[in-house]
Amino acid sequence: MEILGKTTKHSRAIEKRIEELIQEMTVAEKIGQLSLVNSIYGKITKPLRQTIAEGKIGGILNEVDVNVVNELQQTAVEESRLGIPLLVGRDVIHGFKTIFPIPLGLASTWNPEIPERCGRISASEASATGINWTFAPMIDISRDPRWGRIAESFGEDPYLTGVLAKAIVYGFQGDDLSSPGCIAACAKHFAGYGACESGKDYNTANIPENELRNVYLPPFKAAFDAGAASVMTSFSDLDGIPATANEFLLKQILRQEWQFDGFVVSDWEAISQLSVHGLTASDKDSACEAANAGVDMEMVSRTYADHLADLLIEGKISQDRIDTMVSNILRAKFKLGLFDRPYTETSSVNTDKSHEYLEAARCAAVQSCVLLENKHNILPLSKDKLSSIAVIGPLADDRYEQLGTWIFDGDIELSQTPLQAIKAFMKKSAEVNYCRAMATTRSRSREDFGEAVETVRKSDVVILFLGEESILSGEAHSRADISLPGIQNELIEEIAALGKPIVLVIMAGRPLLLEKARKNVDAILYAWHPGTMAGPAIAELLFGIASPSGKLPVTFPRAVGQIPIYYNHKNTGRPATAGSVTNIDDIEAGAPQHSSGDTSFHLDIDNSPLYPFGYGLSYSEFKYSNLRLDHDKIKLGESIRIEVELTNTGECEAEEVTQLYVRDLVGSVTRPVRELKGFKKLRLRPGETASITFELSTDDLAFYGRNNKLVTEAGRFHLWIGGCSDTDLRAEFEIIES
Ligand code: NOJ
Repeated sequence: MEILGKTTKHSRAIEKRIEELIQEMTVAEKIGQLSLVNSIYGKITKPLRQTIAEGKIGGILNEVDVNVVNELQQTAVEESRLGIPLLVGRDVIHGFKTIFPIPLGLASTWNPEIPERCGRISASEASATGINWTFAPMIDISRDPRWGRIAESFGEDPYLTGVLAKAIVYGFQGDDLSSPGCIAACAKHFAGYGACESGKDYNTANIPENELRNVYLPPFKAAFDAGAASVMTSFSDLDGIPATANEFLLKQILRQEWQFDGFVVSDWEAISQLSVHGLTASDKDSACEAANAGVDMEMVSRTYADHLADLLIEGKISQDRIDTMVSNILRAKFKLGLFDRPYTETSSVNTDKSHEYLEAARCAAVQSCVLLENKHNILPLSKDKLSSIAVIGPLADDRYEQLGTWIFDGDIELSQTPLQAIKAFMKKSAEVNYCRAMATTRSRSREDFGEAVETVRKSDVVILFLGEESILSGEAHSRADISLPGIQNELIEEIAALGKPIVLVIMAGRPLLLEKARKNVDAILYAWHPGTMAGPAIAELLFGIASPSGKLPVTFPRAVGQIPIYYNHKNTGRPATAGSVTNIDDIEAGAPQHSSGDTSFHLDIDNSPLYPFGYGLSYSEFKYSNLRLDHDKIKLGESIRIEVELTNTGECEAEEVTQLYVRDLVGSVTRPVRELKGFKKLRLRPGETASITFELSTDDLAFYGRNNKLVTEAGRFHLWIGGCSDTDLRAEFEIIES
């Protein structure tokens, strides 16, 4: 993997070419490079062509017609004075034509090969249309399922997000950005976007610097270590300074501490919105703040185009700063090889690959589903024992809704639905009785409930496909109530009253509240939005062709009032313990003022989540044993080798994700009660035992301590291994000074 920024011969040559170009550029041409303009969707107008020919546009976004892209590149390369090619950006987030599971689903695979493959295939499909830059990965830590964009994230954990971020960046960019089929990645949204108050999109975030460094920033560092070529600023305000004008983030952290040599792009019109935040009084001030803070390229709004030249004359921005901004963008263009190969061959769509791509999407979808409940091992269903199956629900046969958020270019024709797949799987061996029951997941009409009940009555088993349509999550689609929308719970109740076994498959872009539903059903398979191959993947899991292996990358709350609820929380000085918790119903009338059990809990809900981070059932059973460490004391700079035996004690071949957690018992700042430090996914046959090892160095245990300095501190640690964050198989070790 090439790490961008390493001083190689190649990068020295690039730096020389950048310098030469900068020397030749006029101020207008330089400012032009900083401008990212929205396309006119398949059209080229005279003014657009002319602006490009004048060298006043650095990139376009949202153009996916390869002929149009080529024509625009031709104008840039052949008609502009210096022939600088364009960046062509697009939100290629979880697939392009072939749609993979939403990122939260990709994260549920706990298998970096899956996001890597998703990145590689998306890049290959997207680059065939001339796209050379994707606005992905989104690696905002998300602890709030109300936030619609949690769908687009890898969940709540910095380590898991970092590992997957590296993988997908590598998938998009490959070893060499200039190779055919590779596109530049953009780590977003820098930083803190996921901490939006009340989970409302674009909302204010207040994150203390220590938490920012320990929780929100590590995934970005991982993405840059993997060579991510660009970064997008967040729309949000971070501790009073919008990220788009935040010098601390963009200069101190990104450039000084991390030595990032890619470019920084604003989010959509985020520079002009600095005045809406109330940080600036005018577009001119906004341009000045953003440029000086470190935003190189402006997406869509025109404050740079309109004001940077004047700001330069007035001395409010330096020539040096502008040259640096331009250089950062030119560097990416050189690395992409655009100067040598600006055009896209119109025949470059490789149709031979479509089968391989669908196969990869199916495999990703299989691994992304999380089995949350399986009472009496109702799953897998046995084809031979069933003569009829009821398939019910608005998401059973909807080729569009299974795809998820960010599917601008997704090919709906490729979608295979669960109903289609179940029918194909059962062939003629059982009747498949289908009823949509609700027009949408939000529907409040009971009109079709009668038909649903009749459909269930004549069937041996019910498979319910419920959840949320794609549009209920994603950007600007946050919810305050995250229960099943509409009257889906009533539908479940009505069907449950018939006493047939019920399997609930949920497609959704976020964790939903499932306390009610789970009482009424026998199994819950959480499929997120699984993408193009939802149908075959789900059918395989339901009928036991594959065993579920997904694990939750985010905690499922019991109620909205528990949010934010996440596994790697702090202990507090008064953690709740068994016996210290009071229930609201046990408080006597007129009870005198007291602090109850003096611990940290809600009176009206259990302290635990409904499903913890890392949780997910399998059709098999796994046993962990013989946990041992090669040392129980290590010095700073040394490593510890951890070994555990994993046995498949169940009856089918299955995969298990072994998770390693630690707790630093005493720190110069308080440390989380558990932190994920490693994981491995392994397939085992029934009865098979594998020895799993992890190597943990004291550097892996470093954190930002007092004064926000990175430290590794001597002291005692607890360590756990298991198949979920609540595992209790524990060992201990100590870091000693010398
Ligand atoms: C706004 C979103 O916040 C960002 O993630 C996306 O990449 C841009 N729009 C471009 O579509």
